[in-house]
Amino acid sequence: MANTILVGAQWGDEGKGKIIDVLTEKADVVVRYAGGNNAGHTVFIGRDKYVLHLVPSGILRPNKLCVIGNGVVVDPIGLVEEIEGLKRLGVKVGANNFVLSETAHVVLPYHRELDAQREVLKGKNKIGTTKRGIGPAYGDKAARVGLRVNDLVDEARLKETLSLRVRENNAVLKSLGAKPLSFEKVLADYNAAGKALKAFVQNTVVLLHNKMREQADILFEGAQGTFLDIDHGTYPFVTSSNTTAGGACTGSGVPPHRMDRVVGVMKAYTTRVGEGPLPTENREISDLLHGMGREFGATTGRPRRCGWFDSVATRHATMVNGIDDLAVTNLDGLDTLETIKVCIAYRHGGKQYDFVPNDAHTLAECEPVYIEFDGWLAPTDKARSWKQLPPKARAYLKAIAELSNAKLFIASVGPARAQTIFVSKTLK
Ligand code: GDP
Ligand code: IMO
Ligand code: MG
Repeated sequence: MANTILVGAQWGDEGKGKIIDVLTEKADVVVRYAGGNNAGHTVFIGRDKYVLHLVPSGILRPNKLCVIGNGVVVDPIGLVEEIEGLKRLGVKVGANNFVLSETAHVVLPYHRELDAQREVLKGKNKIGTTKRGIGPAYGDKAARVGLRVNDLVDEARLKETLSLRVRENNAVLKSLGAKPLSFEKVLADYNAAGKALKAFVQNTVVLLHNKMREQADILFEGAQGTFLDIDHGTYPFVTSSNTTAGGACTGSGVPPHRMDRVVGVMKAYTTRVGEGPLPTENREISDLLHGMGREFGATTGRPRRCGWFDSVATRHATMVNGIDDLAVTNLDGLDTLETIKVCIAYRHGGKQYDFVPNDAHTLAECEPVYIEFDGWLAPTDKARSWKQLPPKARAYLKAIAELSNAKLFIASVGPARAQTIFVSKTLK
């Protein structure tokens, strides 16, 4: 399979977890390279549902090495709970299949508190974060006052650094009217988490380069989506990391020329959770999907905002990430619609855009230009091959891939592994 970067081509929750699980079959190593436990990647195996937040989704297959890279921000208490939860479900997580980078940054309780307080201060302009402390943790990383995993697992160093950091952050929290943290409690909790994680900690850059020398195939598991990228997303309504393909290099230490291809995952429609512009947002499709019990956030349970497929956005995602292959998920969500709209351009003040304008205010004012497709009005969830899909569904998939400027690789018609159609070879 070679080294593959998998990214979300929209606003997150595209079905990356499912596609990672499918592609992991042919990979040796799976690496998370950005984000933290703001992510929620859902995988179904039979009737069992797994929601991964920090642990790479590859963990669900035996004998695959799963790595949390240096670009991830790790809430160690959340990670310990996630590992325990996986073990209770019968998933093996041990030092032979799970590794944590010693230079990944650590999310601390003051990051979560500050995240929440900043949202309150922003009032109606809030971002709608997951309140997992992601922004403040990456902020501290950039300001060079963060703690890394190798500080966490060194008791003496943790005590010294943390005492300074808790003091400074408590002053800020108090000034915001929030309750200060108990240094002793934070230290005790983080010492315990550090002890529980110590066996997994390694220099993951050296490890990954050793694996490449052994000809291992590496799958890079993106979190969030292109338009939540700190540089390329709808700033400030974004997360705080580089979620796009470049982040896979900086977040893992694997250089660009060792990457062989980029897979972009996108839904057959659009969703977003949290605030910020979503040009194709639409009540009809929102009500339809929520009515089926779909499109509720995997991390926070919030209903996702839904809209028509936005090919201006996915084409832009192809450009920024260098997407070669597309995996289109949730096709089955559109099975009952008579007419399906696809946005092909934006109009704004007499101007037409065929790319996503950088200014979030401009984007919020954009009017989508739509083309319409006939719905196929038939269930697709039982289709197992390209030929078994209704012709109108095939036409829709071909059109959105073409509009997105990349090759259709996978069509997904349900959450299960078997509900995955590999298209490229059979597409006519
Ligand atoms: P991720 O964050 O990109 O991994 O996506 P999430 O797991 O947050 O959300 C995607 C949701 O869609 C999950 O509930 C998946 O089980 C589900 N899913 C993925 N592909 C399909 C599909 O083709 N059809 C249906 N019905 N559900 C899907
Ligand atoms: P996965 O990997 C969807 C959104 C939040 C909010 C913004 C900033 O499951 O696709 P943050 O907590 O990161 O500071 O929140 O980003 N967000 C996601 N939306 N899927 C995700 O991850 C997300 N991670 C963050 O809702 O709008
Ligand atoms: Mg998700």
